[in-house]
Amino acid sequence: MKGVVLAGGTGSRIFPLTKVTNKHLLPVGKCPMIYYPLAKLKEAGISEILIVTGKEHMGEVVNLLGSGNDLGLNLTFKVQDQAGGIAQALGLAENFAGKDAVTVILGDNVFEDSLCDFIANYQKQGLGAKILLQQVKHPERYGVAELDDNNQVLSIEEKPTAPKSNYCVTGIYMFDAQVFNIVKTLKPSKRGELEITDVNNTYIQQHNLSADEITGWWIDAGTFDSLKKADDLVRAGKLDEQVLKLLVPCQP
Ligand code: DAU
Repeated sequence: MKGVVLAGGTGSRIFPLTKVTNKHLLPVGKCPMIYYPLAKLKEAGISEILIVTGKEHMGEVVNLLGSGNDLGLNLTFKVQDQAGGIAQALGLAENFAGKDAVTVILGDNVFEDSLCDFIANYQKQGLGAKILLQQVKHPERYGVAELDDNNQVLSIEEKPTAPKSNYCVTGIYMFDAQVFNIVKTLKPSKRGELEITDVNNTYIQQHNLSADEITGWWIDAGTFDSLKKADDLVRAGKLDEQVLKLLVPCQP
């Protein structure tokens, strides 16, 4: 299993904080936002990680993280020329992934739970995809899962006006190498992006997607309010201290 952190996009919802810097470099507690997904991958035993970001900010991201050596990680970087969507950014990971499965985390997702059990569940299931769901008060801001009586995912809608459940699809995904063939079949959505929701719906049509519920706190820190909330939760639970302890160089 390898890791992918998607840290491109425009950060337009928190402009002007993102006028000169990348959203994922903004502070959350004592760490830059991108440390959180990196630490969650490392905690789950994944140290080979690709980071995708836009050309405007790649220099700053590399300045911060270097080769990953100082964080006990082995990092690779890939430029996304334009913010063409999450699925487009993921498509750039094809050569990096090779035949391996990947755990993908959106760089603005900050969360409490360890990924160890979810990844173990995914590996038991064999190939396919896994998504992590969380019950939220305002599902219309996210991808929303429609579930049957056995909690199987029937479909996912991206930012629906009339959500079919209160289960939002978090930005934490596990995919096999088939994901790259799926990305190549996608057409841009109405907002002009290749959508991760279309990738997941393809896996659903192939009866190849499972879902687990993530019950600890989880935040998509992409708005002013949620950025503040992430900062509050991180400080209250000292997650930043844990992250700083985790992201240290490997023992020689
Ligand atoms: O956080 C969960 C939600 O994330 C999901 O419920 C939605 O299904 C999913 O589409 C996504 O929605 P957002 O509206 O929050 O996506 P956003 O455009 O904010 O992008 C999220 C992250 O993905 C961002 O922090 C960086 C990365 N990204 C995004 C785009 C559009 C890229 O790396 N490249 C891109 O072109």
